[in-house]
Amino acid sequence: GSGAVSAGRGSGGPAPRRATIAARTLRTDRWWVQPLVTVVVLLLFIAYSTFRAFQNAYYSAEPYISPFYSPCITTRCEGDSFPEFFTGPAWISPAIYILVLPLGIRLTCYYYRKAYYRSFWLSPPACAVAEPHRRYTGETRFPLVGQNVHRYFLYAALLFNVILFYEAVRGFRDETGEWGHMGLGTLILLVNAVMLFLYSVSCHSCRHIVGGRLNSFSKHPLRYRAWTLVSRLNARHMQYAWISLFTVAFADFYVFLLATGTITDLRFF
Ligand code: FES
Repeated sequence: GSGAVSAGRGSGGPAPRRATIAARTLRTDRWWVQPLVTVVVLLLFIAYSTFRAFQNAYYSAEPYISPFYSPCITTRCEGDSFPEFFTGPAWISPAIYILVLPLGIRLTCYYYRKAYYRSFWLSPPACAVAEPHRRYTGETRFPLVGQNVHRYFLYAALLFNVILFYEAVRGFRDETGEWGHMGLGTLILLVNAVMLFLYSVSCHSCRHIVGGRLNSFSKHPLRYRAWTLVSRLNARHMQYAWISLFTVAFADFYVFLLATGTITDLRFF
């Protein structure tokens, strides 16, 4: 690496042979709004979800269970939704055992990476705004090289998607376990399951799994069709990322309101 490379990873300022501009940016629009909103919303979500995951209570209101606690795999679970595999210490919230998977997919998601590299690390905060860091090594070193495990989190997320649909379908019972009912909670869990599913299938890794490593699409017409569909969803991956973040928090909050007795479920039939 000579001239261009070493100079380019300097101050995040002007590259060689470009005009030397002292100002950090010449942008006059409010370029900082987007990173600021990203920081605020993500921090709110992290604070809320951390509190709820550790609360270890008010996550079940038959026939519903909060998505933060789903699948609930210990015998200590409130309610009776999922096969229970073991009994952990009482002070460990059942959400903790599964937390790493939904957390992992969001943390390594290509879209969220863009979002938090910009908003939290200011690297760079926006287009044509110099970053404060002196060196730039991309994702070539520890720990960021670990972002490559994203596809494995996607596999796990797809499994979670199936479980969340299963939990949403359980919502078509009443609190005594009889089928053929539906409440507002059923609808909320269902919409959340759909949104999280759209988040998964619109994933960049999913697009690669479906249509990648093919030399000739014409020899694989089915995969080409699937890839076309996933590509269309992929264009909206950012939207699904945010929408599903809201629906998962809202679904949890709705179950919380039911479990604490703050409201009663609106039953349609
Ligand atoms: Fe966002 Fe895979 S790129 S979930």
